[in-house]
Amino acid sequence: MSVKIICDHVVKKYGEAVIIPDLSLEIHEGEFFTLLGPSGCGKTTLLRMIAGFNSIEGGEIRFNDTVINSLSPAKRNIGMVFQNYAIFPHMNVKKNVAFGLTNRHVPPEEIEKRVAKMLATVRIEALQDRMPERLSGGQQQRVALARAIVIEPNVLLMDEPLSNLDAKLRVEMRNAIKEIQKSVNITTVYVTHDQEEAMAVSDRIAIMKEGIIQQTGAPREIYKRPANVFVATFIGHSTVMSGVLRKTELDLGGWTVNLDNLSPGTGVSVENESETALPGETAVKVSIRPEEFYLSDDVEGLHGEIGGSVFLGFYSQNFVKLDNGSDAEFVVDHKSMEREFKPGDRVTLKADIEKINVFDETGTRNLLTAA
Ligand SMILES: Nc1ncnc2c1ncn2[C@@H]1O[C@H](COP(=O)(O)OP(=O)(O)OP(=O)(O)O)[C@@H](O)[C@H]1O
Ligand SMILES: [Mg+2]
Repeated sequence: MSVKIICDHVVKKYGEAVIIPDLSLEIHEGEFFTLLGPSGCGKTTLLRMIAGFNSIEGGEIRFNDTVINSLSPAKRNIGMVFQNYAIFPHMNVKKNVAFGLTNRHVPPEEIEKRVAKMLATVRIEALQDRMPERLSGGQQQRVALARAIVIEPNVLLMDEPLSNLDAKLRVEMRNAIKEIQKSVNITTVYVTHDQEEAMAVSDRIAIMKEGIIQQTGAPREIYKRPANVFVATFIGHSTVMSGVLRKTELDLGGWTVNLDNLSPGTGVSVENESETALPGETAVKVSIRPEEFYLSDDVEGLHGEIGGSVFLGFYSQNFVKLDNGSDAEFVVDHKSMEREFKPGDRVTLKADIEKINVFDETGTRNLLTAA
């Protein structure tokens, strides 16, 4: 049985230090939910609270309607996978996977059946008699995953399970993890500080900073409409610049964000604002994704000088020092253009204004709402 996890005004303190001041969150049944944030923001702390290895200093954690705050870890029916595979070195693959069932005194015939099925699910049937020392990192992580899932937990918790693997294997394993999670349909909380990995595996992501959730949403939502400048720069890359939001009595349709304090004539009209500003001028922050910039031959636009380029196969990343002092990044898709940029080249950039994001001056709130 899969469950819904509710964190209701959860507080975590270590002595005087408040790590999580007040966190509320609902993780749906069967969902692949990821906690993403910089090192030290409290991801592992929260995961361990859900698992029962950390005390809770305030609020409630519930599995469906049951408060689990003081329930021992063993009674929470949780499967866990950690960064360091933590499989038993003295047991072969099959015994490792069977461990939780043997421990629960499940009848041997049933153990045999469930382990065989699980080995097939994570595709390591052929390795069942091997000892862990003769397995690759990815294979060991499959064993750890099989061992966690075979007990049919209500909740699967994973803390940076792929961070010990090399880049290629990480991509392969994250696809495998996602596929396996969908096939067993267990409510899953996944911790990572790798934003690409989070986007690849998750149904929804919560972005954390200093114990506070900044935004929760599907990967696309968060990428397209980050709630604040922190999220805009943490998920994917963004060029952040100052601008002026201008509205006159005549602007019925919406606002104009004027970047002409930066480069003459680059005003963008913004119609999907979340609120109606009073006529006048307001200072704002604007964030623009690398793929939202395009090169232009016009006189108008954001002018600058190439600082460097990174060739990444089917596209290149290009870094520009804009004349207004901002650092910008744009991508060139080599399918559409095979141009090579050299440091010192002059370029003019324009932005796809439908897609850019506009925040208040402090960068704490996105002023746009529509998708
Ligand atoms: N047992 C502890 N006693 C005191 N402080 C702790 C303890 N465990 C963690 N902390 C502090 O709590 C904060 C959050 O730590 P946590 O391990 O949850 O971060 P994290 O988001 O998982 O980071 P990382 O990505 O590096 O794993 C950190 O400031 C850490 O120093
Ligand atoms: Mg951690």
